[in-house]
Amino acid sequence: MNLTAMSLKYINGQLSILDQTLLPFQETWVDVKGPDEMFNVIKTLKVRGAPLIGVSAALCLASYSKEEKHSELFINKALYLRESRPTAVNLMVAIDRLIAVAKKNYSIENIEKEAFQIFKEDEDLCESISRHGADLIKDDETIITHCNTGGLATVGSGTALGVIAKAHSQGKKLHIYVDETRPLLQGGRLTTWELDHLNIPYNLICDNMAGFVMKENKVDKVIVGADRIALNGDFANKIGTYSLAVLCKYHGVDFYVAAPYTTIDFDCPTGKDIPVEQRQPFELKGLRGHFGQVQWAKREGVSSYNPAFDVTPAELVTGWILDKGVFDSSTIDQIKNMKEV
Ligand code: MRU
Repeated sequence: MNLTAMSLKYINGQLSILDQTLLPFQETWVDVKGPDEMFNVIKTLKVRGAPLIGVSAALCLASYSKEEKHSELFINKALYLRESRPTAVNLMVAIDRLIAVAKKNYSIENIEKEAFQIFKEDEDLCESISRHGADLIKDDETIITHCNTGGLATVGSGTALGVIAKAHSQGKKLHIYVDETRPLLQGGRLTTWELDHLNIPYNLICDNMAGFVMKENKVDKVIVGADRIALNGDFANKIGTYSLAVLCKYHGVDFYVAAPYTTIDFDCPTGKDIPVEQRQPFELKGLRGHFGQVQWAKREGVSSYNPAFDVTPAELVTGWILDKGVFDSSTIDQIKNMKEV
């Protein structure tokens, strides 16, 4: 079977990915040759977004199972790939599913079947999240979103951006403010690209403009995605999300997080237990892209701190838009029962 999504293809057992570091100016597809290469692809954010990381790692391992006959060696590579990024739990969830299959009955057919199931499930989960979330959106609303949470971050329509796209497809008039999302600009480069394709009106803003926009433009909602949700509803998402949540509290703006059950960490009681990825200093001191490289701070002598994610406490969340429905502070404790779909 062949599979295609906005930024991933699995054709005759070969996985190719759309290199997201080159968007929006270059649409370059890259064949991924095996788990070692995939590790680098994930680490360098050529593939990114919590659900997409999980699905693409699973498909890479499906492809790898065609050349690795021994289940122990397959499992070792899977465990290695599991370490490529630490915060998005979807990666661990997808790889653990394949490891469980490998331990029980290792064969190309069984591994591929499970990876295809993970792909199909993500498409369906996006659709359910989008439907539930779109019900919350009224005609003529203005929404801020952060990072990229659409078809480039999943193999379906997306999570937060999927909700926005669904409401738009229902004929609701929307205006989106897109946080550029420093330091790697997933909003400025990727969400604008997707909104252009979806024909949804937006303004790109720098992250530090969100408070002023809320004050001036009567923003109705903020909707963001998640990389890991703890059982008490605390969640990790792209750095800058927590600041948005605090701004929402001050300005009385509803703050929603949208995610599939594969983003819930059932072993994680609170946000304090979520590992936050620390990335390289050069990401703060300059930028690499299709244009080459620019640098505005010295490589040596300028010390920096670069957490890729922050953790937003449940008390700042108006609602959790999940594939099973919309939860609030009085019902969020039910997520512990969502382990099985
Ligand atoms: O570092 P990234 O680009 O992988 O971070 C992505 C995010 O933080 C997204 O908001 C999150 O993964 C949800 S994507 C549906």
